[in-house]
Amino acid sequence: MDKDVEKIIKEAQEKLEKIADLKLLDQTYIELFGKNSHLNKLTKQISNLPKDKRPKAGQTINKAKKQLEKLFKETKSRLITHHSSLINPIDISAPGKKDEIGHLHLVSQAIEEIVEIFSRLGFYLQSYPEIDWEWYVFESLNMPKNHPARDEWETFFVKSDPHAKYGGQVLTPHTSNGQVREMEKTKTPPIRMINISRCYRRQIDISHTPMFHQFEGLLIDKNISIPDLRGTFDFFTKSFFGPDRVTRLRPHHFRFTEPSFEVDVICDICKGEGCRICKSGWLELGGAGMVHPKVLKAGNIDPQKYSGFAFGWGIERTIAMKTGLGDIRLLYQNDIRFLEQF
Ligand code: PHE
Repeated sequence: MDKDVEKIIKEAQEKLEKIADLKLLDQTYIELFGKNSHLNKLTKQISNLPKDKRPKAGQTINKAKKQLEKLFKETKSRLITHHSSLINPIDISAPGKKDEIGHLHLVSQAIEEIVEIFSRLGFYLQSYPEIDWEWYVFESLNMPKNHPARDEWETFFVKSDPHAKYGGQVLTPHTSNGQVREMEKTKTPPIRMINISRCYRRQIDISHTPMFHQFEGLLIDKNISIPDLRGTFDFFTKSFFGPDRVTRLRPHHFRFTEPSFEVDVICDICKGEGCRICKSGWLELGGAGMVHPKVLKAGNIDPQKYSGFAFGWGIERTIAMKTGLGDIRLLYQNDIRFLEQF
């Protein structure tokens, strides 16, 4: 019996190795396991054996059957793989798929560009806390406790402590908290700081997100006046937006600058004529002004000796003005179809 089984397996093995076609393989199945197969004939012979030999013979045949099934399956998968490689042959001359290369987020790109432009004028980059004392965010900037001007900053309060030396803690609603901090750090001017940071306000619509970025400029030295501020803004806007994008200053009011301005950039589309996008011909960039003497004093700088200017502009807004982006919330939706365009 053992010998018969061995022979059956060997023959089957040889046959299967030669098969190159799935149809032929299906026919072989009947030959191997069907009614007239060698295996079936052997099975039938079991009943002719003496009783005590039957179980062993049964086991041998079952084992052989399993072995044959395994061989059959292996052959089948070999043929299927071969078949599919014929249908989809590998074209080794085809160009490879390139890995997609990412790039910096639009906001990071703008930050790099802004820092680079101001560095050409000698400004250096500084960073100050995103959670700061009310003193640096408001009081030191001439906005005393309970002053209604504070409402405009729509602040998120982290910890309130009205009696503490520096007041409570807030999420910085603007980067102006860096002004007095920078004066304290540098002690004696000149100061030429660009402070870039995340800011937070209770606001959300097409031109506001609760988290956004500002860049704050602070320049303090001897004999600094409004033409210096103007020249700096023109240099920035021409470098960032393009050579024909001039700025204008509109009178405004901030508690920490005197005089104060709102800085506008001429609209790229209508060149100041007034159009559907800008309405007035100008787009508002952000606030600015000459540093208030009280702020200089809060930073231990003598307003008789020194003067300076400051400005604070939103990065998302600046990007929107450059790219024509209608809804700045798109910047934070992480949609690759949008991000890929820049
Ligand atoms: N901090 C002001 C704001 O967030 C902008 C500003 C900065 C104005 C510096 C004047 C000087 O609106």
